[in-house]
Amino acid sequence: MNRSSKIYIAGHKGMVGSAIWRALQNKGYNNLIGRTSKELDLRNQDSVIQFFKSEKPEVVIDAAARVGGILANNNYPYQFLMDNLFIQNNLIDISLKFEVKKFIFLGSSCIYPKFASQPLKEEYLLTDLLEPTNEWYAIAKITGVKACEAIRKQFEKDYVSLMPTNLYGINDNFDLETSHVLPAMLRKFHEAKKKGNSPVTLWGSGTPLREFLFVDDMAKAVVFALENKLPEYLYNVGTGVDLTIKELAETIQKTVGHLGEIIWDKSKPDGTPRKLMDVSRLNSMGWKHEVQLEEGIAITYDWFKQNIENIKQVKLQE
Ligand SMILES: NC(=O)c1ccc[n+]([C@@H]2O[C@H](COP(=O)([O-])OP(=O)(O)OC[C@H]3O[C@@H](n4cnc5c(N)ncnc54)[C@H](OP(=O)(O)O)[C@@H]3O)[C@@H](O)[C@H]2O)c1
Repeated sequence: MNRSSKIYIAGHKGMVGSAIWRALQNKGYNNLIGRTSKELDLRNQDSVIQFFKSEKPEVVIDAAARVGGILANNNYPYQFLMDNLFIQNNLIDISLKFEVKKFIFLGSSCIYPKFASQPLKEEYLLTDLLEPTNEWYAIAKITGVKACEAIRKQFEKDYVSLMPTNLYGINDNFDLETSHVLPAMLRKFHEAKKKGNSPVTLWGSGTPLREFLFVDDMAKAVVFALENKLPEYLYNVGTGVDLTIKELAETIQKTVGHLGEIIWDKSKPDGTPRKLMDVSRLNSMGWKHEVQLEEGIAITYDWFKQNIENIKQVKLQE
């Protein structure tokens, strides 16, 4: 791969896509292309064919997806299944037809079975039932992983899937109804501090264990996958370290400087007790995360304060 290779980052304005764009620019890649969903709706096959015909990308990184939490998945199962299938089917199939040299597909840890043992290893894929609240999204993502695996097998092309753990960082979604736990907590503590350190109420008992990876580390994993021909079709990406939700809350509280009380609303669900990735496969190839959680949260909080007028707040929508 040379620095002037034409690289198309699908979803380049999203949290992950924009981090990949920054990481590639920092390494001197100078022929990056991206389109917003308004400019190119990836669900539309004809539009995607036209785009590939005119741009002829050599590399495609698929960071475009319809994403969302339990509520969104629950309310719009059809869109979560079909939008993601259309987006990835078009990108994968048209990349194959247009002789794209390298394709990197991004999945998510939710593709693993609900009761798989921890830490989650790549070989646990398709060994048991999925978590029903996000099975629509997970089935689409599993199809993407399998399509890339099939292309490797049948056409011997360099198509690879990366499965990130929970990500956080710059350009995250801070809407309190649709965001993930870390940005939601960050915003809640910030707003409570501004209200004279009023108490912060958080969901559940605080005991579940979760893993978090700074999005710029994820982007470096994508660059690593781009620059190395990886021998397997699927790699987990994470820190391999987890902490309780209570410890996460205390870390964020300290970073924000909130001095009030934390109330745990135990009437709200905890979710799965533990979710941790086994990252030894990618670590053994030479990639490892660099940013520790405290540092990543501090960077994210600085960015949040500087961009507070323009932070992304994704609304629940069909
Ligand atoms: N965030 C996490 O914690 C996490 C964890 C594991 C895996 N991932 C994976 O990482 C990928 C990106 O997630 P993210 O957190 O960066 O999400 P995000 O911030 O919501 O970004 C998603 C991107 O997809 C694009 N997109 C959606 N529908 C599209 C369509 N029909 N046509 C064209 N583009 C479309 C959006 O483009 P516009 O902005 O132009 O609309 C947006 O840039 C996903 O595959 C997700 O599964 C994320």
